Amino acid sequence: MEKAIEIRNLIYEVNGRRIIDGLSLVIYKEEILGIVGPSGEGKTTLLRLLLRLIEPTKGEILIEGENILDMDDRRLNEIRKRMGMVFQYSALFDSLRIWENVAFPLLRHLKIPEGEARKIAEEKLKAVGLEGVEELFPHQLSGGMQKRVALARALALDPKIVLYDEPTAGLDPPTAFAIERLIVDTRNRFGVTSIVVTHDLECLFSICDRIGVLRQGRIIKVAPPEELKFSEDEWIKSFLRRR
Ligand SMILES: Nc1ncnc2c1ncn2[C@@H]1O[C@H](COP(=O)(O)OP(=O)(O)O)[C@@H](O)[C@H]1O
Ligand SMILES: [Mg+2]
Repeated sequence: MEKAIEIRNLIYEVNGRRIIDGLSLVIYKEEILGIVGPSGEGKTTLLRLLLRLIEPTKGEILIEGENILDMDDRRLNEIRKRMGMVFQYSALFDSLRIWENVAFPLLRHLKIPEGEARKIAEEKLKAVGLEGVEELFPHQLSGGMQKRVALARALALDPKIVLYDEPTAGLDPPTAFAIERLIVDTRNRFGVTSIVVTHDLECLFSICDRIGVLRQGRIIKVAPPEELKFSEDEWIKSFLRRR
């Protein structure tokens, strides 16, 4: 199996506090890797580090074999274009129409003409099951629809890697289920590698190929769902027991 991402001994400190503490992890091409762990343990921070939106204190992050930490800005931007992120709370621009939200990366990074960007935006919206909403504004859509728009935007540049931060948080069960199916569908159709950070155990166990458990700034275990369910580790057992 080819590696899409490899993280080696990553350390991230902020205000003298170590959030990520020697984290290592390999993500293979086209897999859906879940990351689970308690709140405030650095899951979102890890995704931001992968895009180098924040600078690690130490360590290596290889994207398709290249260390993004010793890249110049030009190369880094090329790598970023191959990565899409679906932010928690969708993070859409309130004042932009739906199609403009989706076309935003196209207009900004590729500087392609508006008509063409709009066509691509419509295509991406269709790929996530949305049609006829192009002219609306984010507040006119439900939470589940906004999440789809966020995914359409993440797919705008045809990324090879998509990062999802709590994609089902705050959604009712059928909507959460629809988003889960969409994550799998996106992988199947576009061959993307996915990292899904979530507390939603149902989501994790139903869509992930493997699950990494984040605790105290490290991945303490990576295993397929069926193996993780039978983990002998006391902490993992109690964390997954929840009910
Ligand atoms: N820029 C920052 N400045 C100070 N503290 C931060 C910063 N970013 C993250 N943190 C802290 O790092 C910890 C991990 O945050 P986060 O990655 O958001 O956790 P999670 O997504 O797992 O809930 C939290 O305690 C948070 O307060
Ligand atoms: Mg978070």
